[in-house]
Amino acid sequence: MGASGDFDVLPTIGSKELVALLAYMLEAKSVLIPEIAYPTYRVGAILAGAEICEVEIDASTWPERADLAWINSPSNPTGRIHSKEELEACLIWARKSGATLASDECYLPFTNGIQAPSILAIAIGDNTGVLAVHSLSKRSNMAGYRGAFIAGDSKLIAQLLEIRKHMGMMLPMPIQRSMAVALSEQSHVDKQAGRYRARRDRLATALNNAGFKIEFSKAGLYIWCSRDEKDWDSVAWFAGLGILVTPGSFYGAKGSNHVRIALTASDEDISSAAQRINQCIK
Ligand SMILES: Cc1ncc(COP(=O)(O)O)c(C=O)c1O
Repeated sequence: MGASGDFDVLPTIGSKELVALLAYMLEAKSVLIPEIAYPTYRVGAILAGAEICEVEIDASTWPERADLAWINSPSNPTGRIHSKEELEACLIWARKSGATLASDECYLPFTNGIQAPSILAIAIGDNTGVLAVHSLSKRSNMAGYRGAFIAGDSKLIAQLLEIRKHMGMMLPMPIQRSMAVALSEQSHVDKQAGRYRARRDRLATALNNAGFKIEFSKAGLYIWCSRDEKDWDSVAWFAGLGILVTPGSFYGAKGSNHVRIALTASDEDISSAAQRINQCIK
């Protein structure tokens, strides 16, 4: 992760708990979320009764002030990896506006060798107002354990710890122990990353053959693609081949001509899907 300086760590019940409750716990009145995003950032802002502003990653286009800003690299659903310069600009914005910058990094273990810094590395030792969100659900395929954690600004973490314990959201010790075991081992992560890479390559070729344009999709667990038609038309086309994909509009209005394809099906199912796509276009 590359964290340095003063920081603390807090285990959470999956990262979804934190994503859904952060705005509420911080009493945020205004929240920035990516314009194409994992839906729970919006849900969290709604739960907090906060004003929501959808933004691109370019922080020079962000409003001057907000209480909380979410960024997510590699992104769900697009698989975009934000550059060091983009992340630096977000951090500078947060310092200037006094906002909390929450960086959801749950797909960081799957970057296919591409440089993808954590916000904590970008912060080079001054973690004021910065939180990085990590999850064992993706890194170690432990979704059922609900094991995740945040790391960052010690003062913020102390504040969150105080509120969370009154909400009864303590992570059971056996889960914390299993997380520690998983985090101390890297080879299973590399193996899984290799599987996702192979599935991505297999499907991408078939999708290109079928006229889909793949955008970003360099990292993480998803392919984000478009055939310049309504997302639900693409969903129906895939459904006709027995393939379930998610309409892009689930992630924001800007995704309404895209679909998200998950690489979480088995190798056999991904190969079979690629084969059906290829057969259909012959
Ligand atoms: C971007 C992002 N953040 C957080 C989560 C929540 O994952 P979990 O609660 O399993 O840690 C997900 C789940 O898909 C996600 O895609």
